[in-house]
Amino acid sequence: MSIHILDAMAREGFEQVVAFHDSRSRVRGFLGIHESGVGPAFGGIRRWSYRDEDQALLDCLRLARAMTRKCALAGLPAGGGKIVILDRPDLDREGAYAHVGELVECLAGRFCTGPDVGTTDGDLSVVAGKTRFVTRPGPEGPGELAEATCEGVIAGIAASLRHLDGEEDWARRRIVVQGLGGIGRRVVARLLALGASVVAAEIDPERAELASRELGVDLVDPAMDLDQGCDVFAPCALGGILHDLSVARLKCRIVAGGANNVLAKTLHGDRLHERGILYAPDEIITAGALIRGAIFHLEGRREPVAAIGAGIGSTLGRVLVRAREEGRSPVRVAHDEAEKSLARRRATRTRR
Ligand code: PHE
Repeated sequence: MSIHILDAMAREGFEQVVAFHDSRSRVRGFLGIHESGVGPAFGGIRRWSYRDEDQALLDCLRLARAMTRKCALAGLPAGGGKIVILDRPDLDREGAYAHVGELVECLAGRFCTGPDVGTTDGDLSVVAGKTRFVTRPGPEGPGELAEATCEGVIAGIAASLRHLDGEEDWARRRIVVQGLGGIGRRVVARLLALGASVVAAEIDPERAELASRELGVDLVDPAMDLDQGCDVFAPCALGGILHDLSVARLKCRIVAGGANNVLAKTLHGDRLHERGILYAPDEIITAGALIRGAIFHLEGRREPVAAIGAGIGSTLGRVLVRAREEGRSPVRVAHDEAEKSLARRRATRTRR
């Protein structure tokens, strides 16, 4: 596979893609800005051992594209971007994040970064040493971001259950959580506290063992998580997991989780819809951290997590009702609403 980058950018309306390399820290990666015309582009930093640079670039583009939709659906005056770092064993991690911080600073506020898979609070502190345009962890920042994402995911699962059954009735629900990283672990803890029966799958045996000890969650073989009969399948790991083969395996009523870009392609949302499985669009329910981070940067306030959850629940509820009325998959409706909201924002910008 080889990507024609300018064609790919034109197809999805990207503004800019920056490739970066620094021989001192050995960092290599991409920074993508999909949209910064309606407000700064927000996008976290993902550090992952990508197979090759094409895979990394493609991930950067897809993630940045999704961030624009997330902002639009959350009603934020902001656009989407993303940074990906190609991880490697000899990477000077601190030097890498410092380099990325300098790069973000060069963009002078057009791009604002934050956490994502592979990036810890410690990494973000290094970035914050080089630029103001980062959601910095700790007391000077917007507050816990993973907590906000978790709140949105729980609100999304609750709204999906209410849409189908008129109630949450947690005690009667069986939920399978894929991934026990920063988000998955929190989602499991919340669901257990609500009284649901939860099983979790994690490919890293140490992480799995730790979570089962600390949270008391039952584990399932990660090769079998898609095949579990359950009410909700909650993907909280990497994206692209629902494709032609995996959609056919699912035995759940709802898919709703914290991972970005769960669907390999938008048409897999249609496949789920045809199978009678409700897909809660990830661009709506994973936006908690973005909402908290963006509101802090744009308005200097700390949005309470409960308000974030309530907003996400009502946005999803509205999209699900429209999807039912129109007989379309919720993800199509969500993309439609994102486009409309972006068009409205662009129109008011030019008028000013
Ligand atoms: N990376 C997270 C997401 O995909 C959250 C985030 C990004 C938070 C940028 C703040 C700033 O939504």
